[in-house]
Amino acid sequence: MKARAVSPAKVILFGEHFVVGGNTAISMTIDFPTTVTVERESGERVSIESRDLHVKVAFSQQGEIVESVGSNAETALRPVFEAVRVSFEKLHLPCHGLSIMVESRVPIGMGLGSSAATAVGTVSAIGELFKRPFTQQEIFDAAYSLERMVHGHPSGVDQATITYGGLVCYRNGAVDSRLGHSSPPTLLIGNTGKRRSTGEFVGKVTRLRKEQPEEYAKIAFDAQKIAESAIEALRDGRNEDVGSLMNANQVLLEKVGVSSPELEKLIAAARSARALGAKLTGGGGGGCMIAIADKSKSKAVVEAIERAGGQVLPSAFVPYGVRASLEED
Ligand code: MEV
Repeated sequence: MKARAVSPAKVILFGEHFVVGGNTAISMTIDFPTTVTVERESGERVSIESRDLHVKVAFSQQGEIVESVGSNAETALRPVFEAVRVSFEKLHLPCHGLSIMVESRVPIGMGLGSSAATAVGTVSAIGELFKRPFTQQEIFDAAYSLERMVHGHPSGVDQATITYGGLVCYRNGAVDSRLGHSSPPTLLIGNTGKRRSTGEFVGKVTRLRKEQPEEYAKIAFDAQKIAESAIEALRDGRNEDVGSLMNANQVLLEKVGVSSPELEKLIAAARSARALGAKLTGGGGGGCMIAIADKSKSKAVVEAIERAGGQVLPSAFVPYGVRASLEED
């Protein structure tokens, strides 16, 4: 018997970084799937393979490496083992006898939630395999606790978005229903191709918050006002306002030092092709930017982003989070 979980990827429309300090973030799920397949295996090992990264590691029950194939295999797969461990703990079962295959085309380190998608998918698939499916709250709690182990001070927005799915409004560990079933505008996603660590940039903003609390508080206050206005604009489908608010949000992200020349080049290109708005998305420092444009302008915006050296990624909205199912042989 096998269980399979498919997680979407995510983009943040408003409030990244400020959400770590307690602000609101608005995010959504996109159709860029990560598939985690889990299967019982005889013996003591937990074998984990990433098909796309060409790495494979077998862990003992205690987490020691028994076998490793491919470069940087442990760095890539240790977080998956931790997701397995946390899931078995929740099920009160000993952690062994499992094989896991991760398949994902989500570019890593680009702000699209690749690690959250794998963690959320692993937890969901294991609950399904043992016929004790976890609730969304349990999946979120497990994936968030893992992220805290890896990154120190994450907000949980990536894990919440990928668990619950849709257009998500998130603050302080909880999703609120204000965006309910609203559909977001079509976004264009431009990838700078520059990989970076979200943790490094979260650390940068955390230092600013601690060392210059008054300066930070002013910027965060403005970021919260932008997020609140964006909730209204998204609910009413006022795309021009959403675009202006994205531009205003980008100014604040630049102020706290998480933008980069590569991102700003793509953002400027999108705006010069008459996008309604553009900003970085996720951790910043590289990774991806998003733009919103009228339908009649979107081809020109895509071309402008590509001419500026960006790669435009698929960005179709999906109104659901992780989904797991059991496959009987
Ligand atoms: C990363 O997708 C979003 C950040 O706000 C970090 C976090 O919320 O944990 C940059």
